[in-house]
Amino acid sequence: MDLRRIAPVAGAAVLSVSLLAGCGGGSSNSSSAAGGSSGGSCPLVKASDPGNSEAPSDVPAADKAPKLTKTSGLKVAFSQNASNNPWRLAETASMKDEATKQGIQLTVTDANNEQSKQVADIKGLIAQKPDVLFIAPITEQIANVVKDAAAADIPVFLLDRAVDTHVAVPGQDFVTVAQSDFIQEGKRAAVQMAKATGGTAKIIELEGTTGASPAIDRKKGFDEAIKQCSGMQVIVSQDGDFTRAKGQSVAETLLQSHPEATAIYAHNDEMAIGAIAAVKAMGKVPGKDIKVVSIDGEKDGLKAVAAGDLYATVECSPRFGPLAFQTMADYAAGKPVKTLIINSDQLFTKDNAQANIDKAY
Ligand code: AHR
Repeated sequence: MDLRRIAPVAGAAVLSVSLLAGCGGGSSNSSSAAGGSSGGSCPLVKASDPGNSEAPSDVPAADKAPKLTKTSGLKVAFSQNASNNPWRLAETASMKDEATKQGIQLTVTDANNEQSKQVADIKGLIAQKPDVLFIAPITEQIANVVKDAAAADIPVFLLDRAVDTHVAVPGQDFVTVAQSDFIQEGKRAAVQMAKATGGTAKIIELEGTTGASPAIDRKKGFDEAIKQCSGMQVIVSQDGDFTRAKGQSVAETLLQSHPEATAIYAHNDEMAIGAIAAVKAMGKVPGKDIKVVSIDGEKDGLKAVAAGDLYATVECSPRFGPLAFQTMADYAAGKPVKTLIINSDQLFTKDNAQANIDKAY
């Protein structure tokens, strides 16, 4: 979900200012010589990491969503969209750990990466009448079942991905969405790609699951940023479903059909690691012949950065448990809860990857 849809004016301002600030003014100069290690026509090459964005200050508090008046003996449910990668497993573990710590009963469902199963899971959970429903949406298209939960008077908290806010209204059909700013992640990845390639790159893009908010927004942020660099182009872009296996098979096919490719932008580390295997399998050297940049910061991603196979990975933290349960407690206590909460994430490069491997998931 484009965060501008939650706070149209302020959101746009925050996001564009942060990109310009991070990119040394960011004016595109397509008339100078293309690319090159000087980054002459690509201001991103010498830009510093744009860093996190912040939620716009005028995001409203949720005031029309179902209320939560119970503060003890809560029955809480969590609809997870998949358990097919370390990120998802870490998110579920973080939710379970926090529930256990707080002595809260938590029911977890796993949609196995299928939209129809997640819709069925949520309908089943609604029938069990939990006091609170956490949802990690598979795609933006499950907005209707989010509305169903609100209609059944269950406060819904969205975690890590968003839904279509033209259908499910923030602060009414769900209390809040807590997530990373995926557009900003795409912009941060673009800066790293410019540094890796000197601002000249023919890029294969491995997209996340079609219709998922991180897939939509990571593409948008990256595309918007590289417009400043005449020598950087996405030559082909395809869904790799956020998985290592699909990332590898899609990369294999695209590397064969696009021998001119010099870089891969993967929307998550799992697909990047699959792509790195594909690069090696065709006798090319990742980090040299093909530069790879991705997002997440999982353990294998950090190992790949330390090994020089992956140039950088922009963190997207899956550890939502403490934030999720604190937000729920605030809401139960009647404190204002904003309809958008943005996580703070760091950047992993060769300078800090090794030192962070042990802490990673
Ligand atoms: O929604 C966050 C994304 O979903 C993570 O980047 C990815 O690894 C996960 O499946």
